[in-house]
Amino acid sequence: MSESLLLSCRSGFENDCAAEIQFHANQLGISGFARTKNEQGFVEFECFTAGDALAIHRKLDFRELVFTRQWQVVYQKLHLNPDDRISEILSLSQSWGKCSQFAQDYPDTNSGKQLSGFCRKFHKPLQKALVPFLESSSDYILQLFWLDSQMLYLGVRLASNSSPYPMGILRLKQPSVAPSRSTLKLDEAFAVLLNEDERARYIQPGQHAVDLGACPGGWSYQLIRRSMYVDAIDNGPMAEHLMESGQLTHYREDGFKFVPSRKNVSWLVCDMVEKPSRVTRLMLKWLLSGWCKYAIFNLKLPMKKRFAEVQQDLSLLREELSQTGYRFEVRAKQLYHDREEITVFACLHRD
Ligand SMILES: C[S@@+](CC[C@H](N)C(=O)[O-])C[C@H]1O[C@@H](n2cnc3c(N)ncnc32)[C@H](O)[C@@H]1O
Repeated sequence: MSESLLLSCRSGFENDCAAEIQFHANQLGISGFARTKNEQGFVEFECFTAGDALAIHRKLDFRELVFTRQWQVVYQKLHLNPDDRISEILSLSQSWGKCSQFAQDYPDTNSGKQLSGFCRKFHKPLQKALVPFLESSSDYILQLFWLDSQMLYLGVRLASNSSPYPMGILRLKQPSVAPSRSTLKLDEAFAVLLNEDERARYIQPGQHAVDLGACPGGWSYQLIRRSMYVDAIDNGPMAEHLMESGQLTHYREDGFKFVPSRKNVSWLVCDMVEKPSRVTRLMLKWLLSGWCKYAIFNLKLPMKKRFAEVQQDLSLLREELSQTGYRFEVRAKQLYHDREEITVFACLHRD
């Protein structure tokens, strides 16, 4: 088998994940093709030339990948002997150089989830066998991706250029007082789209935030929880207990027409169900007018060519923000708590 990349994604988004990696491989001048099956929860990108899968993995910043949760280079696809899975894994992995640790993943599908017990059980014996060969200073992680308890994609990923979370999924607990499950999207966005240093600098108690399409208040709850004052814009009803927090003002207005009266809005968040291009232009209006410093918003993707739509929207954002001459950030990810949508973080540093 030739060398390939394995990219895991939300089930049903394989074509978007495939289109994305094909696009980036083309940009890098590397030829290959994507193998996908609908709803299998991963994509294989096969390269024609030895070394190319690792080259993509090293050169392409993982944060550029919107539809990929986790990725690895695959050196071997194995059909293991159930009586001795470890020997083969051990002998192969030693020929690829030192790794600092190992990780086991499987597709995030109904059938894949049945492998979680198997992986838990296999962890200890595998650890015992591998520990003498691990080297903590290595940036490589030995990555196992199980298709069933015998079929395995074995390879490596770079710790510094992949998701730090098992299966690329940040699991969060639904707060019992949050008014909707959507609340986890914003919680995850803060954790995944910003790094620790940015969270410390950009999120401060006492900041003002605007939440467009706020009802019933799951996103507002996350802002209030971070000690912000929130203007919530929506014609619907907000959860009563949020109103009682003293940190929230509810405006029954159209989010596309709302103009902030205060000049010190730090955060704009937006979860309105609308055409992604329309939401993108609204976010640009806020950032370019200096109405907010940072924005986190959802782009809903009910259409077929989701990668093409995302590319168009993100290109527009980057183009328009770059014309200001200021430094800016645009990052996007289909988060674990996102469904037919992605979440974007954008900001313009005017200083
Ligand atoms: C997905 S829900 C938001 C859920 C919310 N983020 C939460 O966590 O509870 C979308 C909301 O957008 C609101 N909405 C849609 N179009 C809007 C508009 N033009 N102006 C204001 N709100 C709008 C809807 O009323 C709905 O409450």
